[in-house]
Amino acid sequence: MNNFSFNCPTKFVFGRGTTDQTGAQLAALGHRHALVVYGQGSVVRTGTLGRVLASLDEAGVSYVELSGARPNPEIELVRKGVELARNEKVDVILGVGGGSTIDTAKAISLGVPYTGDTWDLFSRAAQPIAEGKPPVACVLTIPAAGSEASDSCVITNDEKCLKKGLSTDLNRPELAIMDPELTFTLPPYQTAAGVTDMCAHIMERYFSGADAVPVTDGIACSLLRTLIAEAPRALANPEDYDARANIMWVGMLAHNGIAGVGRNLVPTSRAGGWESHGLEHELSAHDPKIAHGAGLAVIFPAWMRYVWRENPERFLAFGRDVFDIEPVNPEEDGVDITAEQAVADAVEATIDALQEFFVSMGMPSTLGELGITEADIDALIQTLEQNKGAEFGEFKRLTMEDARNIYMSAL
Ligand code: NZQ
Ligand code: ZN
Repeated sequence: MNNFSFNCPTKFVFGRGTTDQTGAQLAALGHRHALVVYGQGSVVRTGTLGRVLASLDEAGVSYVELSGARPNPEIELVRKGVELARNEKVDVILGVGGGSTIDTAKAISLGVPYTGDTWDLFSRAAQPIAEGKPPVACVLTIPAAGSEASDSCVITNDEKCLKKGLSTDLNRPELAIMDPELTFTLPPYQTAAGVTDMCAHIMERYFSGADAVPVTDGIACSLLRTLIAEAPRALANPEDYDARANIMWVGMLAHNGIAGVGRNLVPTSRAGGWESHGLEHELSAHDPKIAHGAGLAVIFPAWMRYVWRENPERFLAFGRDVFDIEPVNPEEDGVDITAEQAVADAVEATIDALQEFFVSMGMPSTLGELGITEADIDALIQTLEQNKGAEFGEFKRLTMEDARNIYMSAL
């Protein structure tokens, strides 16, 4: 188990009716004037925004609003938000929505104390500044990205056709209101994309370069098993509170860092090479209509099939602990195959089981289903190289040729 530092200071207020506590919770933290950020209308239609604003009124927290954060959020709205937050001298940025809204709130918060263009922080031309940065709070409406407690913020720059993540503990929200009833209105596709993203957050860490870490691996596999059990229940009955609640809490645990501690190679870094996320971000930057989770449903199994031979034991452990898949023992079981073939069969069965789970929820299994064709791959590789350099990854270092092979295998 490797050394690590893990700092997750977010206060979680979880459960039925917690939405109505937003104002009181912010006031208790000393906040008086909020910038309320939200997406493209779901929170208006569902009444969530009205409830949040009423609770702010009741608690004496004044506010200004910024709407329009789109899925795979764009830097232009962030720039507007930075200006608004500065002019209004708000003391907290409150995101009401999913990862796209919360990431917009995080990026605005990062932009407030920085005098240049906020994109500089994402392009690494400048470093984030702690002093003068207003805290971020959120009311989560879709469990998926885990942004409610993560150290990460992902923003797209349409002009440059780049989608970039920025990880720093400064991104950790101060407060997360998590009311599973808000997720009853989620369409099945968004529910499924969210669950897929959570699986990916757990697996990126599980398949990192470190050796087995039983305590952390046990958490990871338990979270995955929970998703595999609860997602079909939530999809069959969108108002199944317990299924929704379990999924919501897994989404946070999948990405606040606890599912990877001790697996990181460098004490200050998060665990994993995040290969599938790197490959996926190019898809949703190329076409922002592609849901991040749907892209991962295609990319993750394709990456697995490409790299598993680097460490078959890790894949066998994963198959055993998540899907109860054991390789046959050719001698004991009287089967006429080599030991190598038995391992390959078990690994393939494991990857098939994972992909079947994604497909059973309505997720795609090919890039074609996402509207990506062979003709798009050159552009994907070009921006991938800009983002990642000539090589990236940890489980297996991936060159741009490897990346191309993975995209091609997923067509
Ligand atoms: O925009 P509105 O109208 O609110 O609709 C949203 C959006 O269309 C809708 N929605 C949200 N809650 C709803 C609802 N519809 C009905 N009922 C509700 N309760 O769902 C759609 C998707 O929302 P979005 O916020 O885009 O989803 P998600 O949480 O999956 O966020 C995706 C973004 O997060 C980034 C992704 O790359 C992507 O840009 N990520 C952020 C991470 C982080 N900050 O730690 C890590 C992740 O790996 C990920 O990269
Ligand atoms: Zn993700």
